[in-house]
Amino acid sequence: MIELKSAREIETMRQAGRIVAGVLRELAAALRPGITTADLDRLAERLIREAGAEPAFKGYQGYPASICASINDEVVHGIPSPHRVLRDGDLVSLDVGARYRGYYGDSAATFAVGHVPAEARRLLEVTREALYAGIAAARPGNRLGDIGHAVQRYVEAAGFSVVRDYAGHGIGRAMHEDPQVPNYGQPGTGLRLRPGLVLAIEPMVNAGGHAVRTEADGWTVRTVDGSLSAHFEHTVLITEGEPEILTDGAF
Ligand code: MF3
Ligand code: CO
Repeated sequence: MIELKSAREIETMRQAGRIVAGVLRELAAALRPGITTADLDRLAERLIREAGAEPAFKGYQGYPASICASINDEVVHGIPSPHRVLRDGDLVSLDVGARYRGYYGDSAATFAVGHVPAEARRLLEVTREALYAGIAAARPGNRLGDIGHAVQRYVEAAGFSVVRDYAGHGIGRAMHEDPQVPNYGQPGTGLRLRPGLVLAIEPMVNAGGHAVRTEADGWTVRTVDGSLSAHFEHTVLITEGEPEILTDGAF
């Protein structure tokens, strides 16, 4: 079932999105060589709770932390650990979700730690711009396949691959609502987009092939070929006009 949000729900989701964006911004400001992903997780949980919200991921299907922190060839769902120290030259994808007054916000971004090679920087730029291409297609008159197509086209034109095994999602009173939002697709196909629909659009892009696999910890997703991966996500409201990014300012 596809839920369209009321004006009241949208106002609460704006607040949830603003909290998530603020936390992600603070995490980015804290990044430096020597910090551990457990440090970032602790900071995120404190900031989320200080904002009057709860970490959305903690306890979700048994997930043990408040954020996901995925380094280099890790695609998504990396579990924060005091043993994972960020080093100069790493890419780190940080994914933050919060529940505020019963509604969820969800956003992610990949950051360079210190100095990274030009090709890694290009991966970040292409993935972020692919997200914005997907967001630009999130408008009434378009369909779900137009979002995925816009993302895929942008990524593949740059010579990178879109991850197929994970997708974006509807979001609201649950973190994951219908519909699924794949990062690939055919224009003019799928669900008709309508004002009041809120989607988490979240391209995951590999520098090499699209294949991924899950580690023995049951969570960490990694590229099969060992290539770098990036992930950018916004929570987006479809309106009569321009899409409204509820997590705007996160990155
Ligand atoms: N942003 C991710 C998602 O949309 C976060 C899920 S991590 C989990 O699926 F631990 F909560 F599963
Ligand atoms: Co998400």
